Amino acid sequence: MALPPSSFFLLLFLSVGSSLLSSAAKLGEGCSANQDCDAGLRCDGCDGDLGVCVRIRPYEPRSKVRIRHYPFSIRNLGLWVGWFRFRANLGLECAQGKDLPFNKYSWLTTHNSFADAGAHSATGATLITFTNQHDNITSQLNNGVRGLMLDMYDFRNDIWLCHSTAVYQQPAINVLKEIETFLAANPSEVITIFIEDYVKSPSGLSKVFNASGLMKYWFPVDQMPKNGSDWPLLSKMIDQNHRLLVFTSVASKEASEGIAYEWNYVVENQYGDEGMTPGSCPSRAESSPMSTTLKSLVLMNYFRTNPSASSACHNNSAPLLDMLKTCHGLSANRWANFIAVDFYMKGDAPEAADVANGHMVCGCDNIAYCKASGKV
Ligand SMILES: *[C@@H]1O[C@H](CO)[C@@H](O)[C@H](O)[C@H]1NC(C)=O
Ligand SMILES: *[C@@H]1O[C@H](CO)[C@@H](O)[C@H](O)[C@H]1NC(C)=O
Ligand SMILES: *[C@@H]1O[C@H](CO)[C@@H](O)[C@H](O)[C@H]1NC(C)=O
Ligand SMILES: *[C@@H]1O[C@H](CO)[C@@H](O)[C@H](O)[C@H]1NC(C)=O
Repeated sequence: MALPPSSFFLLLFLSVGSSLLSSAAKLGEGCSANQDCDAGLRCDGCDGDLGVCVRIRPYEPRSKVRIRHYPFSIRNLGLWVGWFRFRANLGLECAQGKDLPFNKYSWLTTHNSFADAGAHSATGATLITFTNQHDNITSQLNNGVRGLMLDMYDFRNDIWLCHSTAVYQQPAINVLKEIETFLAANPSEVITIFIEDYVKSPSGLSKVFNASGLMKYWFPVDQMPKNGSDWPLLSKMIDQNHRLLVFTSVASKEASEGIAYEWNYVVENQYGDEGMTPGSCPSRAESSPMSTTLKSLVLMNYFRTNPSASSACHNNSAPLLDMLKTCHGLSANRWANFIAVDFYMKGDAPEAADVANGHMVCGCDNIAYCKASGKV
């Protein structure tokens, strides 16, 4: 039976249309704008090499989210090798691990999360200090960032985020409300805030968190494991709506305001240039040694003392992965739960979270292999 001419044009239209739709550039391919790249990718690059589709978002470590395969790229070689290795081992290598305690996941974390390039101080002052990130908190959360580092100060009878001790950026409530909006819209997500806390006003932090609407998500400090035991299952935290972890750098606020003192629960390595010496992973002054298993969360800082987007391009790739492995070895063979970087969109910071999650979730070298093997 001959197709009527109109069907022919319809088919032609459909095939042209679908080839246009599938023409988006894949990971590592050339581009001139974000829209040219596949979903989840961004048009960026290092060393003025703007024009390659790069990934900005870690893979979801939990659900059966379909990930894109890139059958013809070098990158994908590892994926297939991992898959065949998995098949060969009949599942022995990749142990089952769908619903784990919170401390068995790794989350991409932004250092000075609020200091984005487009920010203008709400005081009217020009932001002359360094920036640490490229986009705002809402955008970071939408891109899969789940750990935020915020510096908070008393200012103008309120709590403000501060860029340096000289420039007050904006009232903290603005950013806390962005976080509240995200948690409300994403009921299975958990966010951790690390406060570099300079707030001296009585109950200052409690008031601002209260006013932000975030208290309904608060993880109670008396339920945090104090002796290195596992955290609750991630699923249980979600069921109980305990989806916000807040840590302060001021020890006394744990008793006075019920805000967890970070280093009662977390070991953390040295930040800045000193923390980037290959082969070493010293703890920062306030933290117990990295190998202290009485604290069940591990935070790895990896950013320069003077933030630089072009350095981040290099630093957030192979050197970051090397440091992840170094810190794993020196933290009693524990993978970092929080991987804190500057300019998280530069280099391949999400890959570090994917590697840590791969090991913790299914015993593979990357969460992508766990997914390829159908184990998450
Ligand atoms: C965050 O950035 C996005 C993209 O630039 C913008 O659309 C949005 O309005 C910003 N949100 C806030 C709260 O600044
Ligand atoms: C928190 O907010 C509630 C009302 O939403 C108020 O009754 C309470 O006093 C506030 N607590 C603090 C510490 O500000
Ligand atoms: C650790 O503390 C938890 C409560 O936080 C308790 O249930 C558990 O028995 C303690 N484990 C050890 C080894 O002390
Ligand atoms: C970070 O990147 C800068 C710029 O490329 C480079 O000079 C520095 O050596 C890097 N640091 C590490 C530890 O890789």
